[in-house]
Amino acid sequence: MRVLVIGGTGRCGKLVIDELLSRGHQVSTLARSPAALGNIRDGLKVIKGTPTNLEDVRATFSADIPDVVIVTLNAPRASDSPFAAPISPPRLMTDCNANVVAVMKEFGVCKTVVLQAFGAGDSWVNMNCVLQLLMKKSNMHYQYEDHNAAETVVRNSGVDYVFVRPSRLVEADEQRVKVWPNDGKGVPMMASTSRVSVARWLVDAAESDMWDNSAPVITN
Ligand SMILES: NC(=O)c1ccc[n+]([C@@H]2O[C@H](COP(=O)([O-])OP(=O)(O)OC[C@H]3O[C@@H](n4cnc5c(N)ncnc54)[C@H](OP(=O)(O)O)[C@@H]3O)[C@@H](O)[C@H]2O)c1
Repeated sequence: MRVLVIGGTGRCGKLVIDELLSRGHQVSTLARSPAALGNIRDGLKVIKGTPTNLEDVRATFSADIPDVVIVTLNAPRASDSPFAAPISPPRLMTDCNANVVAVMKEFGVCKTVVLQAFGAGDSWVNMNCVLQLLMKKSNMHYQYEDHNAAETVVRNSGVDYVFVRPSRLVEADEQRVKVWPNDGKGVPMMASTSRVSVARWLVDAAESDMWDNSAPVITN
């Protein structure tokens, strides 16, 4: 398959690119700083630009029309602390996803797989109340508002989607993934998911139609 990764320079995004290349897919990515991707390997095409700019997204699709898109953007804060100040525009993920689905429709690309987080959309109600409080009272609420607005934009666009909602991300080797319903009912409070398994699962969801138009929560 031809797969476009938006957010390919990020921690999950780089692992997604590795996973796609290891499975023999042709990968393109749009990067503000192509150097962040290291040596360009066979099968990877890098276009310099930003997903906040519609013309850059168009140029990326023109360079290589993908069969499917995987979005692994983050709206960063000054550090990973939930209380650290946001350092990105408030609708970063919403606006980038809006650009992506607009160009997907121009080029006839049907499917996007979007990395979200447990607690986004209808999985909020089943997040433990202590975690809900943390997300509401810290600067994490900007992230959730952006994920939710991005979800609305993608759903309303009419393209096929998979929203992937992992629990807390960790750097670990764990690869076994447990898939929960869209509303995350039953997910333990301390559940975590390794970035490696998130990357593998995003690629699984891109390759298969089993999860199309759903929003599963995943954990290890
Ligand atoms: N942390 C957790 O425990 C947790 C749990 C569940 C889900 N998640 C979700 O996982 C997702 C990805 O996380 P991650 O750790 O892989 O993210 P990350 O390493 O911070 O990567 C962020 C990506 O977004 C891009 N980006 C950031 N700001 C941008 C801007 N202003 N304009 C254009 N591109 C920008 C970055 O590009 P540059 O390299 O150019 O900056 C990079 O490719 C997030 O959506 C997050 O909500 C996280």
